[in-house]
Amino acid sequence: MDTFLLSRILTGLTLGFHIIFATIGVGIPLLLAIAEGIGVWRKDPHYILLAKRWSRGLAIIVSIEVITGTIISLSLSFLWPNFMRVAGHAISLPLFWYTFAFFVEAFFLAIYIYSWDYLKPTRHWLLTLPILIGGCLTGVFFTIINAFMNTPGGITPWEVLFNDAMPSMVFHVLSSTYLSSAFLLAAITAYLILRGKNHTYYKKGLRICVITGLFFSIINGISGAKSVQFMEQFQPGKLSDSSLLMQTFYYFMIGSGIYIIILSGLYLIFKNKKWLMSLILLGGVLAFLSMEFGWIYTEVGRQPWVIQGNLLTEAGVTMASGVEIILFLFVILYFFLGSICSVTLIRLFSRYTPEQEMEQLGIS
Ligand code: HEM
Repeated sequence: MDTFLLSRILTGLTLGFHIIFATIGVGIPLLLAIAEGIGVWRKDPHYILLAKRWSRGLAIIVSIEVITGTIISLSLSFLWPNFMRVAGHAISLPLFWYTFAFFVEAFFLAIYIYSWDYLKPTRHWLLTLPILIGGCLTGVFFTIINAFMNTPGGITPWEVLFNDAMPSMVFHVLSSTYLSSAFLLAAITAYLILRGKNHTYYKKGLRICVITGLFFSIINGISGAKSVQFMEQFQPGKLSDSSLLMQTFYYFMIGSGIYIIILSGLYLIFKNKKWLMSLILLGGVLAFLSMEFGWIYTEVGRQPWVIQGNLLTEAGVTMASGVEIILFLFVILYFFLGSICSVTLIRLFSRYTPEQEMEQLGIS
C-alpha cells in the first residue's frame, strides 16, 4: 500500500475513534447540567445521584478524548505536512482554541467531581457551566476547521472562523452531538430496565434523556435541512453523488433522525413499556452510527480535495516512509484504549450500583 492510502486509513481511523469520545465529551455535560439543575431545584436526590454517576463516567471518556484529540492535532503535521503548510496559516488558531477548550472542560470536570461535599448545591451546579461551555467549544472549533476545508475563504481569523460552511455545520454537529449523547444514556438506562432494574431512579434518568433527545432530534432535523440547503448552494456534487456508499451514509443518517423523533414521541405516550426499551436501545446505536456516517459522508464527499478547490488530498500528504508501522502501532493503541475504557466503565458502574449508593446515602 502506498503512503497516501495508508495516511488516509490512519487519519480516518483516528477520527472515527475520536468521534465516539468527542460526541460523549461534548454532549454529556448538558445532561449533567440538566440532571443536577433539576435535583437542586426540586431537592430530589435521585437527580443529583444521576449527575454524580454520569460525571464519573464522563471523566474517563474525557481523558481518552484529550489523548485522541491531541493525536489528531499532532498527526496533522506528521501525516499531512503539505496540508498544514497551506492551511496552517488559517487553522492553527482554531486548532489552538480547540485544544485549549479541552483543557478547560477537563479542569472544571476535575473540580466538579471532587467538590460535591464542599460546595453549596447551587454553587456546585454552577460548575457544570464551564464544563458545558468548554465541551461545546471543542465541538465548535473542531467543526470550524472542517468547515474551512469545505469552504475556504480568506485566512484572517475572522474569515476562517466565519467561513461559509460554519453556521450550518456547527448547528448540525452540535444538535447531533447532544441528541446522540442523550440517546446513549437513554439506551444504557433502557438496557438496565430491560434487565429488571425498576427503581424510580432509572425511570427519572430515562425521562430526562429521552426528553432531551426529543428536543435535539427536532432541532437536528431543522439543522439537517439547513445542511442540505448549504450543499445545494456550495457543494451540489456531493448531494447528487449517486454512489451506493454515499447514498447509504446519507439515507441512514436521515432515517435514524426520523426514527429517533418518532421513538421519542412514542415514549411520551407509552412511557416505560418493556417493548419500547429495546427500541430506545436501538436508537442509541443508530445515533452513534449516524455520527460516524455523517462525518464520513462529509469527508468522502469532498474528495479529491482536502481543501475544496485549493489543495488536492494527494498533494497534502507526507513524503516520509514508515507510515505502515505507525498505522500498526495506532491500531494497537486504539484497541488498548478502547478496551481499557470499556472495562473501567463497566467495573465502575457494575461494582458500585445506584442501589448500593442510595442505601449508603439513605435515599429511598
Ligand atoms: C434528520 C435528518 C438529517 C438530515 C437531513 C441530515 C443532513 C446532513 C447533511 C446534508 C450533511 C452533510 C453536510 C455537509 O457535508 O456539509 C450531514 C452531515 C452530518 N450529519 Fe446529518 N442529517 C440528518 C440527521 C443526522 C443525525 C440523526 C445525525 C447524528 C446523530 C447526523 C450527524 C451528522 C454529522 C456528524 C455530519 C457531519 C458534519 C457536517 O457535515 O455537518 N445527522 N447531515
